[in-house]
Amino acid sequence: MSIFPLDRIDTSRDLGTPAMDSSEMVTVTIDGQPVEIPAGTSVMRAAAIAGSSVPKLCATDSLDAFGSCRLCVVEIDGRRGTPASCTTPCEPGMSVTTQSPRLDKLRKGVMELYISDHPLDCLTCPANGDCELQDMAGIVGLRDVRYGQVGKNHLDAPTDDSNPYFSFDESKCIACSRCVRACDEIQGTFALTISGRGFDSKVSASEGLKFIDSECVSCGACVQACPTSTLQEKTVIELGVPTREVKTTCAYCGVGCSFVAELRGNELVRMVPDKDGGANAGHSCVKGRFAWGYASHADRITSPMIRESITDDWNVVSWDEAIGFAADRLKALQTESGIDSIGGISSSRCTNEEVFVVQKLVRAAFGNNNVDTCARVCHSPTGYGLKQTFGESAGIQDFKSVEHSDVILLIGANPTDAHPVFASRMKQVLRKGAQLIVVDPRRIDLVKTAHIRAAHHLQLLPGTNVAIVNAIGHVVVTEGLVDKGFVADRCDMVSFTAWERFIALPENSPEALESITGVSAKELRAAARLYASAPNGSIYYGLGVTEHSQGSSMVMAMANLAMATGNIGRDGVGVNPLRGQNNVQGSCDMGSFPHEFSGYRHVSDDSAREVFNQLWGTSLSAVPGLRIPNMFDSAIAGTFRGIYIQGEDIAQSDPNLSHVVAALSAMDTVIVQDLFLNETAKYAHVFLPGTSFLEKDGTFTNAERRINRVRPVMPSQTGMSEWEVTCALAQAMGYDMHYDNGSQIMDEIAATTPTFAGVSFAKLDLVGSVQWPCNDSAPNGTPIMHVEKFVRGEGQFITTPYVPTDEKSSRKFPLLLTTGRILSQYNVGAQTRRTDNVIWHEEDVLDIHEADALERGIADGTWVEVSSRVGATRLRARVTDRVPAGVVYTTFHYPVSGANVITTENSDWATNCPEYKVTAVQVQPSTSVVIG
Ligand code: SF4
Ligand code: SF4
Ligand code: SF4
Ligand code: FES
Repeated sequence: MSIFPLDRIDTSRDLGTPAMDSSEMVTVTIDGQPVEIPAGTSVMRAAAIAGSSVPKLCATDSLDAFGSCRLCVVEIDGRRGTPASCTTPCEPGMSVTTQSPRLDKLRKGVMELYISDHPLDCLTCPANGDCELQDMAGIVGLRDVRYGQVGKNHLDAPTDDSNPYFSFDESKCIACSRCVRACDEIQGTFALTISGRGFDSKVSASEGLKFIDSECVSCGACVQACPTSTLQEKTVIELGVPTREVKTTCAYCGVGCSFVAELRGNELVRMVPDKDGGANAGHSCVKGRFAWGYASHADRITSPMIRESITDDWNVVSWDEAIGFAADRLKALQTESGIDSIGGISSSRCTNEEVFVVQKLVRAAFGNNNVDTCARVCHSPTGYGLKQTFGESAGIQDFKSVEHSDVILLIGANPTDAHPVFASRMKQVLRKGAQLIVVDPRRIDLVKTAHIRAAHHLQLLPGTNVAIVNAIGHVVVTEGLVDKGFVADRCDMVSFTAWERFIALPENSPEALESITGVSAKELRAAARLYASAPNGSIYYGLGVTEHSQGSSMVMAMANLAMATGNIGRDGVGVNPLRGQNNVQGSCDMGSFPHEFSGYRHVSDDSAREVFNQLWGTSLSAVPGLRIPNMFDSAIAGTFRGIYIQGEDIAQSDPNLSHVVAALSAMDTVIVQDLFLNETAKYAHVFLPGTSFLEKDGTFTNAERRINRVRPVMPSQTGMSEWEVTCALAQAMGYDMHYDNGSQIMDEIAATTPTFAGVSFAKLDLVGSVQWPCNDSAPNGTPIMHVEKFVRGEGQFITTPYVPTDEKSSRKFPLLLTTGRILSQYNVGAQTRRTDNVIWHEEDVLDIHEADALERGIADGTWVEVSSRVGATRLRARVTDRVPAGVVYTTFHYPVSGANVITTENSDWATNCPEYKVTAVQVQPSTSVVIG
């Protein structure tokens, strides 16, 4: 008997219904072919696995079976009638027939009914050649329709073109409900319904609104699910059905979604989330799916430019001239002011390979360790805190793990805006019954959204995170909720005993901290009990944890909590950073910090240094270099004079911008490598054009430590890869650095970095993605870390006393400003502001509570001046109860509003990560002429 092997299933085919997660196997016979499948598998999926194709319309394997179209009927021995194969589970011994004259007739009849109420204009339809309805008509052999199109029909139904990226042509809708189910089951927004009954039933967004006015967040899941051209990408309407594809990875957030870039010739037509994507499993958000137009925006600079002084105009020059000019100036500075007078900043937008060569340029060609990365300003406390407690500077679970969480403690993160695809996964778990505790000064969407309500929202005052987590720890210890077995087996008992004694102190009780945090002791106790008693309790956190003066303490406080409750080392638990930029994990892994080589080995580690010295022919410095804030201070002091900045707009993204501008202006040579003439380029002498993700050949590493391939979808618009430019600069500085391609750089990373030893482009091309560590001990990567023991051996508890930030509200600055981002825009907006996403967010606004607004005579839309101890800016106000009284909130996507003009230089005690999340401000109606 031949049994179809499950490991050879081609998952790129639509198997009709989702895979069943069951270890029990059953065997059925499909058209005489035996097939063994997990219990609960539908007859439709079993048939597809066995190689029999059952026609279908309402079924697709990303959605639960629905059973509405009746096209998928089959015959089952011993059963009456013709059941729908999508909704019929396989039973042991079942014998199924998928093709027979009777079934042909039934299916043809079904198709006839559909087609009789459908525009017969396939030849001019944008989906022609890529339409399931058309395919099914062909498969069932429908040649003509007996019923004319003269009766009541939907042929004149209107088209909704309001969304910038897709249209909704109601006349082509077959009411299969796939779009509605995609919005509910996959995205979790519940924006669509089928309104009306029978003939009148139709898909409607937010019950009768245009898409653009509805709750739709433009994720595109419905467009992908639609089997016809009803929901259709406008690029497909404009350019035609794609003819070829390239698999690659999104360049926006740290979720790291995999995509199939679909092209027609050399023109990108659409980005389709990859069903096999380890991070996204076929889903995406509006940015990754639709907001890629910036890559060919007219603002792109594609030729190198130089100028003597920042007051001169730019001169377009050849690559050789630009590189020579940059190298000569840098060398002259080192001759005048010493080897340490220059440095570089790598970018979390760039690939691992591009980042690796930048830090190599600094260490090997510049001869110092003055390299830092934008992770300095976001998740450097994660690296520090998790290394101290667990022994590795990275997140510890895969995203899938959340499916096993019973309680999720979400702290300082807003996944529906900042990590939308992970948020959809989280929402699926919450809808199935997991409980949610939100710790955030703002009422983020997840506190209450469709079919989800957080069990607790601990609405703390900005800057009091550590107090909250200490109070939770206090409840765990004093109410006997410690997992003593886990602690005894896995943790360092001396450190645990010290932490236990500290955390039990009355000063850490919820009652003692209530007046500091603003959170009711009763609610905090209930939340603490919920988390600590959960079979699987997970902690997810974002920049609301790290960007504080106690960012590192907070990461360690959460690690203490997870260890004390035994929530480490299996599915459904962990301390999980939701990292910001697409490759922020990778840029840290690649040795971008001034004190660490790739793989987080300290520069003073002789054996690590020797590995590089041998391979690179260098004598590397054992002395840590300057961090970004130290570079700025040294620039103002005149000792740091030249900088190479890869893809980072520090004049917009870093705090206390007047200080940043003073530092940049003080430098003699500023080299900017970027797609656009950004704010930082205003202070640059050399502009080296960069490449978009669509032109790169390399890898990104997401928040799960998952290394994904980034493949070139189109040729470099500058004629050079970014790593080639960096190598050329190194050569011109006198250090021989050369690679033939990105793959060779990854081979060098693997050869020098123990956690990457098993990684290569060839391996990634074969298996899709791997999570590091990937080496001889873990050839297939490591989805979950610290399973049997911590990387550092025993888990280390570290006492984390709450220390109030110096940034306090006062009579002059009575409100606390906190910052964040929104779904449609990304970071400083350089990419998304150059796409149609601007229609959802045309400017940054200031959220202010009604009580604070009333007190100041501010109404919705009033222009206000926001002033802090370091600067002032103007924004339009939005009066809302999403922020509590005393707290105001804004985003930082537009340079014109310059939120970072007002943020201060306070920073994390361990890593200098800026305290973006707490700035004491005053807000008053603006009397000046408004901007924008
Ligand atoms: S949606 Fe499909 S069946 Fe309908 S007109 Fe377009 S190609 Fe033809
Ligand atoms: S685009 Fe996404 S959010 Fe909008 S209706 Fe479709 S599935 Fe729902
Ligand atoms: S921005 Fe993030 S969530 Fe959206 S598609 Fe890209 S990686 Fe995925
Ligand atoms: S595909 Fe089974 S009823 Fe529609």
